[in-house]
Amino acid sequence: MDDSRIEEIRTAVINRYAGVARSPRPSFSYATGREGLLKLGYEQAFIDLLPLSVAESFCGVADPLMAGEIRTGETVLDVGCGAGVDVIRAALKSGPEGVAYGVDLTAAMVQRATDNIALMKLTNARVVEAAAESLPFPDETFDVVTSNGVLNLSPQKRECFAEIRRVLKPGGRLYLADMILEGDALSESRCDLDAWSA
Ligand SMILES: C[S@@+](CC[C@H](N)C(=O)[O-])C[C@H]1O[C@@H](n2cnc3c(N)ncnc32)[C@H](O)[C@@H]1O
Repeated sequence: MDDSRIEEIRTAVINRYAGVARSPRPSFSYATGREGLLKLGYEQAFIDLLPLSVAESFCGVADPLMAGEIRTGETVLDVGCGAGVDVIRAALKSGPEGVAYGVDLTAAMVQRATDNIALMKLTNARVVEAAAESLPFPDETFDVVTSNGVLNLSPQKRECFAEIRRVLKPGGRLYLADMILEGDALSESRCDLDAWSA
């Protein structure tokens, strides 16, 4: 895929999620809000801790922590953190000796996540505007990388995985929740900007 097409897809994704950041209940295929968290099996005790405005800003495909735990004191990165619900949970699980970072491509999402973290009064969580394909962290920084409903939106998946591998410590863990397309839909959908940003 050439650079101009990659840029076009990236702009469509940013425009789409700037809208979702303002109003997180558009009609699309992700599970959203408190209802979505319950449906995907997030812990009830965690959901109950979230102010409604924070829970309502969630928009994911599954619970990445079905793949494994976050332990006290660990350093965690959530790639494509959106409004920050998985960053908030990582910060609560890693505790004051740990730290949770989020990155997102969309400035409006970064603002929403920053506001949500402030509302939760968490001092061990931070969010940065950045792309999964070019993570602004040194090699071997994180014990755990999570991601929820993001890498399907990138036309440069190899770059995303290479970056995740680079920033994970040796023996670090990736907990990935995402979607894949199969069969005939693939060739058609590759040409459709709406499908990339859905
Ligand atoms: C479906 S939302 C999921 C948000 C969040 N993970 C959650 O579970 O609530 C997808 C998010 O990925 C972000 N995103 C898409 N492509 C990205 C990329 N290449 N790098 C970083 N973030 C990206 C979008 O801006 C959006 O906030």
